[in-house]
Amino acid sequence: MLKGYKRIFFVLGLMIIFIVVLSRCMNVADKIPPDVRGENFTGAATCIKCHAKVAQSFIHSAHAQSSAPANKKTLESYLQTDSNSFAFNAHMKVKIEKRDSGIYQVAYIDGKQSRIQRFDIAFGSGEKAFTYAYWKGRKLYQLPLSHFSAIKTWANSPGFPINNMYFDRPIPSRCLECHSSYIKKETKQVSALAMDEELEKGSLLYGIDCERCHGPGKQHAVFHLENPDEKTAKFITIFKTLSRKQKMDACGVCHSGNKLTTVQSVFNFQPGDDLNDYYAQDFVSFGGVNPDVHGNQTAMLQGSMCYRKSEMTCQSCHNTHESIKGNMAIYSQRCISCHQTQKHSSQTLKKGVLKTNCVDCHMPMQASKLISFQTAGNKNVSPYMLRSHHIGIYPAK
Ligand code: HEC
Ligand code: HEC
Ligand code: HEC
Ligand code: HEC
Ligand code: HEC
Ligand code: HEC
Ligand code: HEC
Repeated sequence: MLKGYKRIFFVLGLMIIFIVVLSRCMNVADKIPPDVRGENFTGAATCIKCHAKVAQSFIHSAHAQSSAPANKKTLESYLQTDSNSFAFNAHMKVKIEKRDSGIYQVAYIDGKQSRIQRFDIAFGSGEKAFTYAYWKGRKLYQLPLSHFSAIKTWANSPGFPINNMYFDRPIPSRCLECHSSYIKKETKQVSALAMDEELEKGSLLYGIDCERCHGPGKQHAVFHLENPDEKTAKFITIFKTLSRKQKMDACGVCHSGNKLTTVQSVFNFQPGDDLNDYYAQDFVSFGGVNPDVHGNQTAMLQGSMCYRKSEMTCQSCHNTHESIKGNMAIYSQRCISCHQTQKHSSQTLKKGVLKTNCVDCHMPMQASKLISFQTAGNKNVSPYMLRSHHIGIYPAK
């Protein structure tokens, strides 16, 4: 008799534990918001719950801000402080104007409004520049004027005609592959040679988020929510266990320049993947001959002796989750960690700054050959300056 009761209690007990566990699982999974990228993803809001410290530095990072809805406050501040128009010639100008429904770039021919488009999306963190796009149906187009931080004003967007107001340059999904976390697109063959693509506005995930770099993290999040005492990361790629090539590829997916041909959308890329599965082999230049400073830090670095004669990766100098922007003393410490002694001539030694700024001599700022911009009333183009990642000995300035 008693034995029977015990067994029932035992079974009941097991069932209760089972139900409790099950309901906890369901609660956890329920609490995780869905993500347009699919069921293995969850979105940065979930990651931030447990990684508050990382998240704090992340929010202000260039990666997080590499694309965003055009910010009214920033634009309004430009309206107050900057020249708000750009004259292409005596007859044509584009003005930045605030109207009821937003802020617009308005084209005028001899004082008469000829075209008007709204600021919808800002590309870039603004560190060097913002360039803007507007939606027309299921396509994005670039606005004629961009804002350049170095000159604190508006200039003709890079590569745009210098004597015409141009509103019809499409922004392909390729820009978003490097500047955002996701957008859904549909491609149609429109002729033997041409493809047409349509973008789904609502699916755009602005900025470069946690899972864009770390890969899908839903299973990781669910596991750690269910096992709060577990301190070892599960179901997420451990960056330091990756091979050197895998580490280089994880950054190279967006830092190998935009000349490469994609064989599949790089939105699918996850850390650990082989980049050769995403980009067609670059037989013309092998990525290394004459790479540009713009967006191609990988090839620039790979041409350096430092890279060839050591196990250097991007992480030798950059930690994605710290902000040491502009702190050349800290960067120089990273040089010194490999170069405890340097053989400098007495002439070089005279210049001083040796211990605190190796960078400006050995990684000087250089003008991009691909990008330049033109300011109002100026026929010449201004250079777009970037840090050379070809570490080397440069002629003294
Ligand atoms: C319920 C809490 C929790 C959530 C939610 C969570 N994590 Fe984690 N995560 C952890 C714990 C615990 C560790 C292990 C300790 C540590 O490294 O901080 C960890 C470690 C990591 C690591 C370090 C791996 C390494 O190299 O050692 C990464 C990367 C990471 N998480 C990314 C994410 C991402 C991306 C998300 C969102 C998709 C996320 N985490 C959501 C708890 C969480
Ligand atoms: C999804 C594409 C993508 C990936 C992956 C990526 N980056 Fe970037 N990164 C960008 C873009 C776009 C910018 C320019 C952001 C801006 O200013 O708008 C950038 C900017 C930077 C900057 C300049 C930041 C600043 O504060 O000015 C550094 C340094 C950098 N990336 C390093 C890395 C490293 C190291 C990795 C690999 C761990 C990496 N990135 C992975 C797209 C990416
Ligand atoms: C541009 C790529 C990139 C983005 C975006 C990114 N990470 Fe990381 N993260 C890395 C890399 C690379 C490492 C390895 C450490 C390093 O940089 O040396 C790392 C390390 C980590 C670690 C373990 C080490 C640490 O500093 O605690 C955690 C946790 C983490 N990331 C979470 C996140 C979360 C959460 C987000 C979003 C809020 C995020 N990461 C966004 C590239 C990225
Ligand atoms: C292969 C990846 C890649 C592609 C494709 C790409 N970019 Fe970039 N972009 C970058 C990186 C990396 C930077 C960081 C600075 C640099 O290296 O020039 C950057 C910088 C920028 C900046 C300046 C941001 C700042 O404030 O520093 C703007 C604006 C920009 N890109 C817009 C665009 C637009 C518009 C397109 C499409 C026509 C595009 N990018 C395509 C990777 C890319
Ligand atoms: C991971 C280790 C490592 C780091 C970090 C590193 N280097 Fe190097 N560097 C090397 C190695 C190895 C060589 C080749 C030395 C040789 O051949 O004797 C080298 C070579 C050089 C050379 C000679 C280049 C040439 O073409 O002859 C210069 C200059 C240099 N490094 C400067 C720097 C500066 C400046 C930094 C920081 C911005 C730096 N290195 C960071 C490992 C490193
Ligand atoms: C030897 C050290 C070193 C290595 C290795 C290195 N960087 Fe840098 N990087 C720097 C320094 C120094 C700066 C300038 C930082 C600043 O101005 O605050 C910089 C700036 C950048 C910028 C901003 C570009 C600009 O002109 O403002 C990007 C993007 C970047 N690095 C990406 C990368 C990527 C991707 C890798 C790996 C392929 C990498 N870096 C490897 C030292 C390094
Ligand atoms: C004022 C510019 C300048 C600064 C600052 C500077 N260098 Fe150099 N470096 C040179 C020049 C020029 C050479 C070629 C030899 C010479 O003429 O002194 C050189 C040569 C080198 C070499 C190759 C010779 C050797 O030792 O094998 C290395 C490595 C190097 N520098 C590393 C560094 C590091 C690390 C720092 C920062 C602690 C630094 N340099 C700061 C200009 C500079």
